[in-house]
Amino acid sequence: MRTVTFLPSYRKIDVARGSTILEAAQRAGLNINVVCGGQGKCGKCVVYVQSGKTEFDRQKYSRFFSEDELTKGACLACATIVQGDLQVLVPESTLIQEQKILIAGRDTEIEFHPSVRKYYVELQPPTLTDPSPDLTRLLWGIQKSGGPVAEKIYVPLEVMREIPTLLRIVTGKLPGQLLSSRAATALLISRRMTPQNIFMVLR
Ligand code: FES
Repeated sequence: MRTVTFLPSYRKIDVARGSTILEAAQRAGLNINVVCGGQGKCGKCVVYVQSGKTEFDRQKYSRFFSEDELTKGACLACATIVQGDLQVLVPESTLIQEQKILIAGRDTEIEFHPSVRKYYVELQPPTLTDPSPDLTRLLWGIQKSGGPVAEKIYVPLEVMREIPTLLRIVTGKLPGQLLSSRAATALLISRRMTPQNIFMVLR
């Protein structure tokens, strides 16, 4: 039997000569990261042999280590055979960390500046005494609903062209009814407007 001492915990375990360091570590209750199942393919089970005799094919697994690491005794636990009593350092990065559930956090104030806003708009139909254009009515409606002032709303030409039709599609009547339609949203958004443009979302 050979005694393997794992550092920094100083856990000791007796194993038969010819066992791997991985087997010894597992028997000692260490949770070594073995992504490839101990096949020498993932390079996750790195340990450092501090003293004692082992058998490890440095050439074969050199892709996992720098020269400096090899000098310090780095090897793969799954591919290193125990030949004598050993002292093996197990870095924290080689161990599977216990999963922790985040149950508390800091409250962060987030100011929202969405590029798309929704305004509830009700418009009066044009009359002989008030024949203002649809666009003007709509912009004033948005302003009245808490949106930007009408003069500051930029309406792209392609949207402007759509507004009379849109209002009539939406309501099926002349503007002045409650505008309520997802189609309006879809129509405006489908125009590929940029965030600088005003998105008039009507419902
Ligand atoms: S467990 Fe994957 S290389 Fe050792």
